[in-house]
Amino acid sequence: MASTEIDHDHRLGPLSALGNAVIIGSSGGIGQALVRALAVKARFKRVYCLNRAGQTPSPLPQTGLTQTELTGLAIDLTKEDSILHAAEQVALQGPVSLVLVATGLLQDGEQSPEKTMRHLSSDALMRAFQINAVGPALVAKHFLPLMSREGRSVFAALSARVGSISDNRSGGWYSYRAAKAALNMLIQTLALEHARKFPLGVCVGIHPGTVDTNLSKPFQRGVPSERLFSPELSAAHILRLVQDLTTADSGGLFAWDGTRIAP
Ligand SMILES: NC(=O)c1ccc[n+]([C@@H]2O[C@H](COP(=O)([O-])OP(=O)(O)OC[C@H]3O[C@@H](n4cnc5c(N)ncnc54)[C@H](OP(=O)(O)O)[C@@H]3O)[C@@H](O)[C@H]2O)c1
Repeated sequence: MASTEIDHDHRLGPLSALGNAVIIGSSGGIGQALVRALAVKARFKRVYCLNRAGQTPSPLPQTGLTQTELTGLAIDLTKEDSILHAAEQVALQGPVSLVLVATGLLQDGEQSPEKTMRHLSSDALMRAFQINAVGPALVAKHFLPLMSREGRSVFAALSARVGSISDNRSGGWYSYRAAKAALNMLIQTLALEHARKFPLGVCVGIHPGTVDTNLSKPFQRGVPSERLFSPELSAAHILRLVQDLTTADSGGLFAWDGTRIAP
């Protein structure tokens, strides 16, 4: 996709007619772009912006939503009570049509992806699993019951192609790969249970491609410019994909362009 002007506007209609959207990790590179895209189009009654600071993106976009319709709530994936509390606040305003989990951890001041097994550490593995797999699972626990039953709804967590076991031909990045593989399994398992009570509900993982954010900054060398997406283009890809998903897709992992990634 060469253009940043992908028009996902008309495609959001059927999903958004019923109400509210929730972006978890709205402070991140992709999360902020998702909030801006949804707020500008004003297709949902409310867009909840969940992040550790509990704030909406700043500065606010020129938005069709009022300040109350764009609501910041605090959430920390390592504290289940904060996830529960945020879900309770969201539930007060009715059912949710769309949840996008845009949190994740690849590297920060405390850890970076392992090049060899000699770099494996219990702490780094545990942290990677906590943020990339356990946190999204707890988000699903508290937010899937809030999804709309009246029409199609989508719960999507940003995962990564490197979490595909069959696609792993280069090795390395142990903790991130393993945590995303765990996330992919959690999504498939959640999707099966969710479908029993929400026959029109869709629950998927999405690989956004390589996106120019803090998460990928140290690893962008060698990525062709046409394969390094801006957060805005990535948000457009994700929203188009979300719109095109059907219940037959539930449980799967999909790349930004809609192709299914094998586990
Ligand atoms: N960028 C890429 O090239 C790429 C490629 C493949 C997959 N992905 C996936 O896409 C997702 C979003 O990535 P990104 O590039 O937007 O990364 P990012 O800019 O680093 O954003 C990460 C987000 O995760 C949040 N987070 C981290 N720990 C948290 C915690 N304990 N509680 C609550 N929130 C927490 C951060 O919140 P704070 O602002 O509070 O730190 C931030 O909002 C991730 O799942 C990533 O694995 C990205």
